[in-house]
Amino acid sequence: MNKLSVNLRVNGRGYDLEVASNKTLLEVLRDQLNLPDTKYGCGTGECGACTVLIDGEVVNSCLTLAAAADGREIRTAVGLEKNGQLHPVQQAFIEETAVQCGYCIPGMVVKSVGLLEKNPDPSEEEIRHWLEGNICRCTGYEKIVDAVKSASKKMASAEVKAVG
Ligand code: FES
Ligand code: FES
Repeated sequence: MNKLSVNLRVNGRGYDLEVASNKTLLEVLRDQLNLPDTKYGCGTGECGACTVLIDGEVVNSCLTLAAAADGREIRTAVGLEKNGQLHPVQQAFIEETAVQCGYCIPGMVVKSVGLLEKNPDPSEEEIRHWLEGNICRCTGYEKIVDAVKSASKKMASAEVKAVG
């Protein structure tokens, strides 16, 4: 298989890598960069466990070739915290006890951050619709939706404080 030279920017850090042309971004994150927070679920774009942000857009990293992410800004769940503080979405998942086994959670959190960056005040219907492609086998989704609502409120009030 052809090897390609790529520069991946993951969670603010640059990596110069040789990747096989058929390797997915998920494989490279997990196997070459040792970043296991992005999960392998189905490998076919149906569960959302592998969700990452590329230049602010949510993508299934199992369906994205690593070479296609060359030079782009990739964020995964572990890259969401800032200055040692969890992202408000991560914090809300904890506070709302939206986590059981945890396997789906990195993808859920990343996907939710992608929503709130585009739409800071989504309705419950918009949250449910946005998260449709992410499967959770444990929680029944209610607490996950509550967590996204709560994060949205907290982020809005933090913004008001910052402006005021
Ligand atoms: S592992 Fe990518 S969508 Fe399931
Ligand atoms: S918490 Fe177990 S799959 Fe979602």
